[in-house]
Amino acid sequence: MKLDIQGHSGCEIAIVHEDNDLHIHKSTYDPAYVPRLINQANKQIAASKIAYQNIRVPKVFEVVQNEKDATIKMEYIYSKNFVEYFENAGFEQIKYLIGAIKYFIDLEIDASEMKTVPSCILTDKMADVARKVQNNVHLKNDKVAVDLVIQSQDIMNKVGDMVMPVGRCHGDLTFSNILFNGNNYYLIDFLDSFIESPLLDIVKIRQDTAYMWSTLMYNKPFDKVRLSIISSKIDSAIDEYFKENYEWYRRYYMPLQLMNFLRILQYAHEDRVISYLKNVISSQLSFINNQKPS
Ligand SMILES: Nc1ncnc2c1ncn2[C@@H]1O[C@H](COP(=O)(O)OP(=O)(O)OP(=O)(O)O)[C@@H](O)[C@H]1O
Ligand SMILES: [Mg+2]
Repeated sequence: MKLDIQGHSGCEIAIVHEDNDLHIHKSTYDPAYVPRLINQANKQIAASKIAYQNIRVPKVFEVVQNEKDATIKMEYIYSKNFVEYFENAGFEQIKYLIGAIKYFIDLEIDASEMKTVPSCILTDKMADVARKVQNNVHLKNDKVAVDLVIQSQDIMNKVGDMVMPVGRCHGDLTFSNILFNGNNYYLIDFLDSFIESPLLDIVKIRQDTAYMWSTLMYNKPFDKVRLSIISSKIDSAIDEYFKENYEWYRRYYMPLQLMNFLRILQYAHEDRVISYLKNVISSQLSFINNQKPS
């Protein structure tokens, strides 16, 4: 079966008929990717034990781990992807989705503890990005990209220690990792995050609502105007809610969103993606540089 949305990891997704039911087998045959897929399975199993009302997680039936390959066998969810869902969703459904996202992240915040994330986490990550950009043949001679990285280093050096909730996080909460089934939303593709904070989930969801990242990866025609209206409605609701309630969101969302896009940039190889990323990063830098100090 052909799928409309594919990630970048190179995992194989198979729909399998087993025990009179449809299952999904997500496999990797890359030994270096095995630990990451196993972490993903563990995170998904932990999340599926927690009741999230209308936010759900496909059940994991079995995890097969070998030295060179691994497979997660899980429940198949009859669902729409975000584009199919948004093309037909009415105002009430969008309101419901906004409520579900806020509820899910608030539960993560409750399950986390306020901790100090030392400044070196951000500066080390930034140094790593700079190295990877230098090693990326599509970027190392791109003056604009290299200059954006230098400007970003400056920003990251100024952030300092960050106090924020740490403990629970999906790790890759983009629209492409949500399966839509009526008013139930199934989360897939859990990932370890460099800071296990709910703030990183807000960063990931806004990667789509504010910057429309997942539509860049969507390979079928769709109604761009409708999608951007809906995305911006969801985005302003999320932004206003977290701005109003959490100081750490107000302080650290922007630098972490910048870091998020830099981490995508470091591996980028397609011209259209690189030019999109340079635009986004440059607009984020202008925004941060024009912000009044608090
Ligand atoms: N449990 C499931 N039920 C139905 N469809 C699924 C399920 N898991 C995955 N899929 C389909 O496979 C697609 C890709 O799955 P997933 O997001 O886990 O992998 P990926 O994005 O290719 O991997 P990665 O992000 O690790 O690179 C989903 O967008 C969805 O269409
Ligand atoms: Mg995915």
